[in-house]
Amino acid sequence: MLTKEYIKELKNNGNGAIGQLIKNYQNSGSLTFILENLGQLPKDFDGSFLPDLLGHKNPTVRLWAIKTIGKLGNEEYLPLLKQTALHDSDTNVRREAVSSIGRMRTREGRTILTEILQDNDPKIVCQAIRGLLLFKGDSQVDASLKSLLNHENEMVRTVIYKEYFAEQKDKKAQPHTETYNYLKNVVVNADTIETMKLLKDESIHLTFTSPPYYNARDYSIYPSYKAYLEFLAEVFKEVHRITKEGRFLVLNTSPIIIPRISRAHSSKRYPIPFDIHPYLMEMGWEFIDDIVWMKPEASVKNRIGGFQQHRKPLAYKPNSVTEYLMVYRKSTDKLLDWNIRQYDWQTVQDSKVPEGYETTNVWKIDPCFDKVHSAVFPVELCKRVIQYYSFKGDLVFDPFAGSGTVGKTAKSLGRYFFLTEKDKTYFDYIKSKKSKEMFDKIETKYLTLEEFKETIK
Ligand SMILES: C[S@@+](CC[C@H](N)C(=O)[O-])C[C@H]1O[C@@H](n2cnc3c(N)ncnc32)[C@H](O)[C@@H]1O
Repeated sequence: MLTKEYIKELKNNGNGAIGQLIKNYQNSGSLTFILENLGQLPKDFDGSFLPDLLGHKNPTVRLWAIKTIGKLGNEEYLPLLKQTALHDSDTNVRREAVSSIGRMRTREGRTILTEILQDNDPKIVCQAIRGLLLFKGDSQVDASLKSLLNHENEMVRTVIYKEYFAEQKDKKAQPHTETYNYLKNVVVNADTIETMKLLKDESIHLTFTSPPYYNARDYSIYPSYKAYLEFLAEVFKEVHRITKEGRFLVLNTSPIIIPRISRAHSSKRYPIPFDIHPYLMEMGWEFIDDIVWMKPEASVKNRIGGFQQHRKPLAYKPNSVTEYLMVYRKSTDKLLDWNIRQYDWQTVQDSKVPEGYETTNVWKIDPCFDKVHSAVFPVELCKRVIQYYSFKGDLVFDPFAGSGTVGKTAKSLGRYFFLTEKDKTYFDYIKSKKSKEMFDKIETKYLTLEEFKETIK
Protein backbone atom coordinates (compact mmCIF):
# COMPACT_ATOMS: atom_id res chain seq x y z
CA MET A 1 0.00 0.00 0.00
CA LEU A 2 1.14 3.53 -0.71
CA THR A 3 2.02 5.19 2.60
CA LYS A 4 4.25 8.07 3.62
CA GLU A 5 6.59 5.65 5.40
CA TYR A 6 6.87 3.44 2.33
CA ILE A 7 7.73 6.43 0.13
CA LYS A 8 10.35 7.57 2.60
CA GLU A 9 11.86 4.10 2.75
CA LEU A 10 12.08 3.84 -1.03
CA LYS A 11 13.55 7.31 -1.31
CA ASN A 12 16.36 6.46 1.07
CA ASN A 13 16.83 2.87 -0.03
CA GLY A 14 18.29 3.17 -3.41
CA ASN A 15 18.48 5.15 -6.53
CA GLY A 16 15.74 4.78 -9.09
CA ALA A 17 13.31 3.17 -6.67
CA ILE A 18 10.94 6.12 -6.70
CA GLY A 19 11.10 6.22 -10.50
CA GLN A 20 10.06 2.55 -10.54
CA LEU A 21 7.23 3.24 -8.12
CA ILE A 22 5.94 6.12 -10.24
CA LYS A 23 5.76 3.82 -13.26
CA ASN A 24 3.25 1.64 -11.40
CA TYR A 25 0.86 4.49 -10.90
CA GLN A 26 -0.99 6.46 -13.53
CA ASN A 27 -3.74 8.17 -11.60
CA SER A 28 -3.11 11.74 -10.57
CA GLY A 29 -4.07 11.22 -6.92
CA SER A 30 -1.39 8.60 -6.29
CA LEU A 31 1.24 10.45 -8.32
CA THR A 32 0.57 13.64 -6.39
CA PHE A 33 0.69 11.72 -3.11
CA ILE A 34 4.12 10.27 -3.95
CA LEU A 35 5.61 13.57 -5.09
CA GLU A 36 4.09 15.52 -2.23
CA ASN A 37 5.61 13.16 0.32
CA LEU A 38 9.13 13.03 -1.02
CA GLY A 39 10.25 15.77 1.34
CA GLN A 40 13.97 16.57 1.26
CA LEU A 41 15.82 14.71 -1.44
CA PRO A 42 19.13 12.86 -1.01
CA LYS A 43 22.05 14.43 -2.91
CA ASP A 44 22.26 11.63 -5.47
CA PHE A 45 18.51 11.38 -6.04
CA ASP A 46 17.68 10.09 -9.53
CA GLY A 47 15.09 12.48 -10.95
CA SER A 48 15.15 11.10 -14.48
CA PHE A 49 11.45 10.14 -14.23
CA LEU A 50 10.41 13.77 -13.60
CA PRO A 51 10.56 15.30 -17.13
CA ASP A 52 7.95 12.82 -18.36
CA LEU A 53 5.57 13.93 -15.64
CA LEU A 54 5.66 17.46 -17.04
CA GLY A 55 3.53 16.10 -19.88
CA HIS A 56 0.91 14.73 -17.47
CA LYS A 57 -2.59 16.04 -18.12
CA ASN A 58 -3.24 16.89 -14.49
CA PRO A 59 -1.81 20.31 -13.48
CA THR A 60 -1.34 19.25 -9.83
CA VAL A 61 0.93 16.41 -10.92
CA ARG A 62 2.85 18.81 -13.16
CA LEU A 63 3.09 21.31 -10.30
CA TRP A 64 4.58 18.74 -7.94
CA ALA A 65 6.92 17.47 -10.63
CA ILE A 66 8.21 21.03 -11.06
CA LYS A 67 8.56 21.50 -7.31
CA THR A 68 10.56 18.28 -7.14
CA ILE A 69 12.78 19.32 -10.05
CA GLY A 70 13.33 22.60 -8.22
CA LYS A 71 14.52 20.70 -5.16
CA LEU A 72 17.17 18.94 -7.20
CA GLY A 73 18.83 22.29 -7.87
CA ASN A 74 20.40 20.79 -10.99
CA GLU A 75 21.25 23.36 -13.68
CA GLU A 76 20.75 20.77 -16.40
CA TYR A 77 17.03 21.12 -15.87
CA LEU A 78 17.04 24.86 -16.61
CA PRO A 79 15.95 24.53 -20.28
CA LEU A 80 13.05 22.33 -19.16
CA LEU A 81 12.06 24.76 -16.44
CA LYS A 82 12.21 27.59 -18.94
CA GLN A 83 10.05 25.67 -21.38
CA THR A 84 7.46 25.05 -18.63
CA ALA A 85 7.63 28.62 -17.35
CA LEU A 86 6.88 29.97 -20.79
CA HIS A 87 4.46 27.43 -22.19
CA ASP A 88 2.57 25.39 -19.58
CA SER A 89 -1.19 25.98 -19.77
CA ASP A 90 -1.55 26.37 -15.99
CA THR A 91 -0.46 29.61 -14.29
CA ASN A 92 0.47 27.92 -11.00
CA VAL A 93 2.71 25.44 -12.77
CA ARG A 94 4.33 28.29 -14.68
CA ARG A 95 4.84 30.27 -11.46
CA GLU A 96 6.41 27.30 -9.76
CA ALA A 97 8.78 26.85 -12.69
CA VAL A 98 9.81 30.52 -12.48
CA SER A 99 10.26 30.19 -8.75
CA SER A 100 12.49 27.11 -9.21
CA ILE A 101 14.63 28.95 -11.75
CA GLY A 102 15.02 31.78 -9.23
CA ARG A 103 15.98 29.46 -6.39
CA MET A 104 18.88 28.07 -8.40
CA ARG A 105 20.51 31.52 -8.34
CA THR A 106 22.60 30.89 -11.43
CA ARG A 107 23.78 33.24 -14.19
CA GLU A 108 21.85 31.33 -16.81
CA GLY A 109 18.75 31.36 -14.60
CA ARG A 110 19.12 35.10 -14.29
CA THR A 111 19.11 35.47 -18.07
CA ILE A 112 15.98 33.33 -18.34
CA LEU A 113 14.21 35.35 -15.63
CA THR A 114 15.04 38.56 -17.46
CA GLU A 115 13.40 37.12 -20.59
CA ILE A 116 10.35 36.14 -18.55
CA LEU A 117 9.87 39.79 -17.53
CA GLN A 118 8.24 40.21 -20.95
CA ASP A 119 5.48 37.72 -20.11
CA ASN A 120 1.86 38.76 -20.50
CA ASP A 121 0.78 37.39 -17.12
CA PRO A 122 1.60 39.87 -14.31
CA LYS A 123 1.75 37.06 -11.73
CA ILE A 124 4.51 35.40 -13.74
CA VAL A 125 6.32 38.72 -14.12
CA CYS A 126 6.11 39.30 -10.35
CA GLN A 127 7.55 35.85 -9.71
CA ALA A 128 10.42 36.57 -12.10
CA ILE A 129 11.01 39.88 -10.31
CA ARG A 130 11.24 38.03 -6.99
CA GLY A 131 13.89 35.75 -8.44
CA LEU A 132 15.83 38.64 -9.95
CA LEU A 133 15.75 40.63 -6.74
CA LEU A 134 18.15 38.04 -5.33
CA PHE A 135 20.66 39.72 -7.65
CA LYS A 136 19.74 43.26 -6.62
CA GLY A 137 22.81 45.46 -6.88
CA ASP A 138 23.93 43.91 -10.16
CA SER A 139 23.75 46.80 -12.61
CA GLN A 140 22.18 44.79 -15.45
CA VAL A 141 19.51 43.29 -13.22
CA ASP A 142 18.77 46.68 -11.63
CA ALA A 143 18.41 48.30 -15.05
CA SER A 144 15.99 45.61 -16.28
CA LEU A 145 13.88 45.87 -13.15
CA LYS A 146 13.84 49.66 -12.99
CA SER A 147 12.57 49.76 -16.57
CA LEU A 148 9.35 48.16 -15.27
CA LEU A 149 8.41 51.25 -13.27
CA ASN A 150 5.88 52.17 -15.95
CA HIS A 151 4.67 48.61 -16.52
CA GLU A 152 0.98 48.47 -17.38
CA ASN A 153 0.19 46.30 -14.38
CA GLU A 154 -0.20 48.01 -10.99
CA MET A 155 1.17 45.07 -8.95
CA VAL A 156 4.37 45.10 -10.97
CA ARG A 157 4.67 48.89 -10.69
CA THR A 158 4.15 48.75 -6.91
CA VAL A 159 6.87 46.14 -6.35
CA ILE A 160 9.37 48.02 -8.48
CA TYR A 161 8.51 51.33 -6.86
CA LYS A 162 8.97 49.86 -3.40
CA GLU A 163 12.30 48.22 -4.28
CA TYR A 164 13.91 51.08 -6.15
CA PHE A 165 12.04 54.36 -5.86
CA ALA A 166 10.27 54.65 -2.48
CA GLU A 167 11.31 57.90 -0.90
CA GLN A 168 13.44 57.76 2.19
CA LYS A 169 11.57 59.27 5.11
CA ASP A 170 12.79 62.46 6.64
CA LYS A 171 14.48 61.26 9.80
CA LYS A 172 13.44 64.43 11.60
CA ALA A 173 9.72 63.93 10.87
CA GLN A 174 7.41 63.48 13.82
CA PRO A 175 7.17 59.93 15.19
CA HIS A 176 4.25 57.96 13.76
CA THR A 177 2.38 57.69 17.05
CA GLU A 178 2.59 61.37 17.95
CA THR A 179 0.91 64.53 16.81
CA TYR A 180 0.97 68.26 17.42
CA ASN A 181 -0.50 69.58 20.67
CA TYR A 182 -2.28 72.42 18.87
CA LEU A 183 -4.50 69.83 17.17
CA LYS A 184 -5.52 67.88 20.25
CA ASN A 185 -9.17 68.32 21.27
CA VAL A 186 -9.78 71.31 19.05
CA VAL A 187 -12.97 72.33 17.22
CA VAL A 188 -12.56 74.94 14.49
CA ASN A 189 -15.53 76.88 13.17
CA ALA A 190 -14.44 77.22 9.54
CA ASP A 191 -14.38 75.68 6.12
CA THR A 192 -12.59 72.38 6.38
CA ILE A 193 -10.36 72.85 3.32
CA GLU A 194 -9.17 76.26 4.48
CA THR A 195 -8.42 74.78 7.90
CA MET A 196 -6.65 71.68 6.62
CA LYS A 197 -4.37 73.85 4.45
CA LEU A 198 -2.87 75.13 7.69
CA LEU A 199 -1.93 71.64 8.87
CA LYS A 200 1.43 69.96 8.38
CA ASP A 201 1.71 66.76 6.33
CA GLU A 202 1.05 63.56 8.26
CA SER A 203 -0.62 65.08 11.32
CA ILE A 204 -3.57 62.77 11.92
CA HIS A 205 -4.14 59.06 12.49
CA LEU A 206 -7.75 58.44 11.48
CA THR A 207 -10.52 60.31 9.70
CA PHE A 208 -14.12 59.27 10.14
CA THR A 209 -16.69 61.47 8.49
CA SER A 210 -20.02 61.82 6.83
CA PRO A 211 -19.87 64.57 4.21
CA PRO A 212 -22.77 66.90 3.50
CA TYR A 213 -25.20 65.19 1.13
CA TYR A 214 -25.56 66.58 -2.34
CA ASN A 215 -28.36 69.11 -2.05
CA ALA A 216 -30.28 66.73 0.17
CA ARG A 217 -30.39 69.03 3.15
CA ASP A 218 -30.26 72.77 3.37
CA TYR A 219 -26.64 72.90 4.58
CA SER A 220 -25.43 71.44 1.34
CA ILE A 221 -26.15 73.46 -1.75
CA TYR A 222 -23.80 72.86 -4.67
CA PRO A 223 -24.23 74.19 -8.22
CA SER A 224 -23.99 70.71 -9.79
CA TYR A 225 -23.30 67.10 -8.89
CA LYS A 226 -19.93 67.38 -10.61
CA ALA A 227 -19.08 70.43 -8.50
CA TYR A 228 -20.14 68.51 -5.42
CA LEU A 229 -17.90 65.53 -6.24
CA GLU A 230 -15.02 67.86 -7.02
CA PHE A 231 -15.49 69.59 -3.67
CA LEU A 232 -15.37 66.23 -1.88
CA ALA A 233 -12.33 65.24 -3.93
CA GLU A 234 -10.53 68.38 -2.82
CA VAL A 235 -11.41 67.66 0.81
CA PHE A 236 -10.15 64.08 0.69
CA LYS A 237 -7.00 65.10 -1.13
CA GLU A 238 -6.15 67.37 1.79
CA VAL A 239 -7.16 64.63 4.23
CA HIS A 240 -4.77 62.34 2.37
CA ARG A 241 -1.91 64.81 2.73
CA ILE A 242 -2.42 65.30 6.48
CA THR A 243 -2.95 61.58 7.19
CA LYS A 244 -0.03 59.61 8.59
CA GLU A 245 1.57 56.92 6.49
CA GLY A 246 -0.62 53.84 6.04
CA ARG A 247 -3.50 55.15 8.16
CA PHE A 248 -7.21 55.08 7.50
CA LEU A 249 -10.09 57.13 6.16
CA VAL A 250 -13.57 55.79 6.88
CA LEU A 251 -16.14 57.50 4.75
CA ASN A 252 -19.87 57.27 5.44
CA THR A 253 -22.06 57.98 2.41
CA SER A 254 -25.01 56.48 0.60
CA PRO A 255 -26.84 57.08 -2.65
CA ILE A 256 -29.31 59.91 -2.30
CA ILE A 257 -32.51 60.87 -4.02
CA ILE A 258 -33.33 64.33 -5.21
CA PRO A 259 -37.14 64.47 -5.29
CA ARG A 260 -38.91 65.21 -8.56
CA ILE A 261 -39.83 68.83 -9.19
CA SER A 262 -43.29 67.94 -10.50
CA ARG A 263 -45.36 64.93 -11.49
CA ALA A 264 -44.10 65.33 -15.07
CA HIS A 265 -40.52 64.60 -13.94
CA SER A 266 -38.90 61.73 -12.18
CA SER A 267 -36.79 61.86 -9.05
CA LYS A 268 -33.06 61.32 -9.49
CA ARG A 269 -30.81 59.01 -7.58
CA TYR A 270 -27.10 59.83 -7.18
CA PRO A 271 -24.74 56.96 -6.29
CA ILE A 272 -22.34 59.07 -4.21
CA PRO A 273 -20.16 56.26 -2.76
CA PHE A 274 -19.56 54.78 -6.21
CA ASP A 275 -18.88 58.12 -7.85
CA ILE A 276 -16.45 59.40 -5.23
CA HIS A 277 -14.55 56.10 -5.14
CA PRO A 278 -12.53 56.60 -8.38
CA TYR A 279 -11.42 60.05 -7.19
CA LEU A 280 -10.15 58.52 -3.94
CA MET A 281 -8.24 55.77 -5.71
CA GLU A 282 -6.71 58.28 -8.08
CA MET A 283 -5.40 60.48 -5.27
CA GLY A 284 -3.62 57.64 -3.46
CA TRP A 285 -6.12 55.99 -1.14
CA GLU A 286 -6.09 52.21 -1.17
CA PHE A 287 -9.49 50.55 -0.95
CA ILE A 288 -9.71 48.27 2.10
CA ASP A 289 -13.33 47.37 2.90
CA ASP A 290 -16.94 48.21 2.32
CA ILE A 291 -18.97 48.05 5.50
CA VAL A 292 -22.73 48.27 5.30
CA TRP A 293 -24.53 50.14 8.05
CA MET A 294 -28.01 48.62 8.24
CA LYS A 295 -30.92 50.35 9.94
CA PRO A 296 -34.30 48.97 10.96
CA GLU A 297 -36.86 49.34 8.17
CA ALA A 298 -39.22 51.24 10.43
CA SER A 299 -36.62 53.98 10.87
CA VAL A 300 -36.26 54.90 7.18
CA LYS A 301 -38.42 56.74 4.68
CA ASN A 302 -41.12 54.52 3.21
CA ARG A 303 -40.71 54.26 -0.59
CA ILE A 304 -42.37 50.91 -1.14
CA GLY A 305 -45.92 52.12 -0.39
CA GLY A 306 -46.95 52.78 -4.02
CA PHE A 307 -45.55 49.48 -5.23
CA GLN A 308 -47.39 47.60 -2.50
CA GLN A 309 -50.62 48.88 -4.06
CA HIS A 310 -49.93 48.25 -7.74
CA ARG A 311 -47.08 45.63 -7.85
CA LYS A 312 -46.11 46.80 -11.33
CA PRO A 313 -42.67 45.68 -12.52
CA LEU A 314 -40.11 48.44 -13.10
CA ALA A 315 -41.74 50.61 -10.47
CA TYR A 316 -40.27 48.59 -7.61
CA LYS A 317 -38.72 50.95 -5.01
CA PRO A 318 -37.24 49.14 -2.02
CA ASN A 319 -36.83 50.96 1.26
CA SER A 320 -33.18 51.97 1.63
CA VAL A 321 -32.06 50.65 4.97
CA THR A 322 -28.32 50.81 4.31
CA GLU A 323 -25.49 53.28 4.17
CA TYR A 324 -21.87 52.58 3.32
CA LEU A 325 -18.78 52.91 5.41
CA MET A 326 -16.02 52.80 2.82
CA VAL A 327 -12.67 52.05 4.40
CA TYR A 328 -9.50 53.34 2.75
CA ARG A 329 -5.85 53.32 3.71
CA LYS A 330 -3.29 55.91 2.68
CA SER A 331 -1.28 53.95 0.12
CA THR A 332 2.13 52.89 1.26
CA ASP A 333 4.59 50.14 0.56
CA LYS A 334 4.64 49.36 4.28
CA LEU A 335 2.56 46.53 5.72
CA LEU A 336 -0.05 47.09 8.43
CA ASP A 337 2.37 45.35 10.78
CA TRP A 338 4.72 48.27 10.31
CA ASN A 339 2.02 50.66 11.56
CA ILE A 340 1.29 48.45 14.57
CA ARG A 341 4.98 48.07 15.40
CA GLN A 342 5.30 51.85 15.83
CA TYR A 343 3.33 51.62 19.10
CA ASP A 344 4.75 50.44 22.39
CA TRP A 345 3.56 47.16 23.89
CA GLN A 346 1.40 48.85 26.53
CA THR A 347 -0.47 50.99 24.00
CA VAL A 348 -1.17 47.98 21.81
CA GLN A 349 -2.49 46.08 24.86
CA ASP A 350 -4.60 49.01 26.03
CA SER A 351 -6.04 49.50 22.54
CA LYS A 352 -7.09 45.87 22.05
CA VAL A 353 -10.61 45.73 20.62
CA PRO A 354 -12.88 44.44 23.41
CA GLU A 355 -14.91 41.23 23.18
CA GLY A 356 -18.20 41.47 21.33
CA TYR A 357 -16.76 43.13 18.23
CA GLU A 358 -18.60 42.80 14.93
CA THR A 359 -17.35 39.92 12.81
CA THR A 360 -19.14 40.77 9.56
CA ASN A 361 -19.24 43.79 7.29
CA VAL A 362 -22.93 44.32 8.01
CA TRP A 363 -23.36 46.48 11.06
CA LYS A 364 -26.91 46.60 12.39
CA ILE A 365 -27.15 49.86 14.29
CA ASP A 366 -30.19 52.03 15.01
CA PRO A 367 -29.95 55.54 13.62
CA CYS A 368 -29.84 58.47 15.96
CA PHE A 369 -32.17 61.47 15.88
CA ASP A 370 -31.20 64.83 17.23
CA LYS A 371 -33.26 67.94 17.87
CA VAL A 372 -30.67 70.34 16.40
CA HIS A 373 -28.73 68.43 13.73
CA SER A 374 -30.57 66.35 11.18
CA ALA A 375 -27.86 63.79 10.37
CA VAL A 376 -25.92 62.72 13.44
CA PHE A 377 -23.85 59.56 13.79
CA PRO A 378 -25.02 57.02 16.35
CA VAL A 379 -22.37 56.76 19.09
CA GLU A 380 -22.14 52.99 18.53
CA LEU A 381 -21.10 53.54 14.90
CA CYS A 382 -18.35 55.95 15.93
CA LYS A 383 -17.26 53.65 18.71
CA ARG A 384 -16.67 50.73 16.36
CA VAL A 385 -14.82 52.76 13.75
CA ILE A 386 -12.57 54.39 16.34
CA GLN A 387 -11.85 51.15 18.20
CA TYR A 388 -11.19 49.12 15.04
CA TYR A 389 -9.06 51.70 13.23
CA SER A 390 -7.08 53.66 15.83
CA PHE A 391 -4.93 53.28 18.93
CA LYS A 392 -5.28 55.04 22.24
CA GLY A 393 -3.62 58.43 22.13
CA ASP A 394 -4.19 58.77 18.35
CA LEU A 395 -5.68 61.88 16.77
CA VAL A 396 -9.09 61.31 15.17
CA PHE A 397 -10.34 63.85 12.66
CA ASP A 398 -13.81 64.70 11.40
CA PRO A 399 -13.76 67.42 8.69
CA PHE A 400 -17.59 67.63 8.74
CA ALA A 401 -18.18 67.54 12.46
CA GLY A 402 -21.92 68.38 12.62
CA SER A 403 -22.92 67.80 16.23
CA GLY A 404 -19.44 66.52 17.10
CA THR A 405 -20.24 62.83 17.72
CA VAL A 406 -16.83 61.71 16.45
CA GLY A 407 -15.07 64.06 18.88
CA LYS A 408 -17.17 63.05 21.83
CA THR A 409 -16.68 59.33 21.18
CA ALA A 410 -12.97 59.64 20.41
CA LYS A 411 -12.42 61.34 23.75
CA SER A 412 -14.41 58.73 25.65
CA LEU A 413 -12.17 56.04 24.10
CA GLY A 414 -8.92 57.69 25.10
CA ARG A 415 -8.16 59.28 21.73
CA TYR A 416 -7.73 62.96 20.86
CA PHE A 417 -9.98 64.66 18.34
CA PHE A 418 -9.74 67.46 15.82
CA LEU A 419 -12.98 68.75 14.27
CA THR A 420 -13.95 71.32 11.69
CA GLU A 421 -17.52 72.56 11.28
CA LYS A 422 -18.44 75.43 9.00
CA ASP A 423 -21.91 76.18 10.32
CA LYS A 424 -21.94 78.47 13.36
CA THR A 425 -25.20 76.94 14.66
CA TYR A 426 -23.69 73.45 14.78
CA PHE A 427 -20.38 74.75 16.11
CA ASP A 428 -22.27 76.46 18.94
CA TYR A 429 -24.25 73.27 19.45
CA ILE A 430 -21.03 71.27 19.95
CA LYS A 431 -19.86 73.94 22.34
CA SER A 432 -23.13 73.97 24.27
CA LYS A 433 -22.86 70.25 24.92
CA LYS A 434 -19.57 70.61 26.73
CA SER A 435 -20.98 70.78 30.24
CA LYS A 436 -23.20 67.76 29.79
CA GLU A 437 -20.84 65.58 27.80
CA MET A 438 -17.25 64.54 28.11
CA PHE A 439 -15.79 67.75 26.73
CA ASP A 440 -15.47 69.21 30.20
CA LYS A 441 -13.03 66.56 31.39
CA ILE A 442 -10.20 67.84 29.27
CA GLU A 443 -10.02 71.33 28.06
CA THR A 444 -11.37 71.58 24.55
CA LYS A 445 -10.61 74.62 22.43
CA TYR A 446 -13.40 76.14 20.31
CA LEU A 447 -11.74 78.40 17.77
CA THR A 448 -12.40 80.58 14.79
CA LEU A 449 -10.01 80.15 11.87
CA GLU A 450 -8.06 83.24 12.93
CA GLU A 451 -7.74 81.99 16.50
CA PHE A 452 -6.63 78.60 15.24
CA LYS A 453 -3.94 80.22 13.07
CA GLU A 454 -2.64 81.94 16.19
CA THR A 455 -2.27 78.63 18.06
CA ILE A 456 -0.17 77.14 15.26
CA LYS A 457 2.42 79.89 15.23
C1 LIG B 1 -23.68 64.94 7.48
S1 LIG B 1 -23.25 66.23 8.55
C2 LIG B 1 -22.21 65.45 9.71
C3 LIG B 1 -22.88 65.02 10.96
C4 LIG B 1 -21.96 64.41 11.97
N1 LIG B 1 -21.43 63.16 11.49
C5 LIG B 1 -22.64 64.20 13.32
O1 LIG B 1 -22.50 63.12 13.90
O2 LIG B 1 -23.28 65.11 13.81
C6 LIG B 1 -22.19 67.22 7.59
C7 LIG B 1 -21.74 68.49 8.26
O3 LIG B 1 -20.73 69.09 7.44
C8 LIG B 1 -20.82 70.51 7.61
N2 LIG B 1 -20.12 71.13 6.46
C9 LIG B 1 -20.56 71.22 5.17
N3 LIG B 1 -19.62 71.81 4.41
C10 LIG B 1 -18.56 72.05 5.21
C11 LIG B 1 -17.27 72.64 4.97
N4 LIG B 1 -16.91 73.07 3.77
N5 LIG B 1 -16.42 72.71 6.01
C12 LIG B 1 -16.77 72.27 7.25
N6 LIG B 1 -17.98 71.75 7.53
C13 LIG B 1 -18.86 71.62 6.52
C14 LIG B 1 -22.31 70.76 7.64
O4 LIG B 1 -22.60 72.00 8.25
C15 LIG B 1 -22.81 69.55 8.43
O5 LIG B 1 -22.97 69.85 9.79
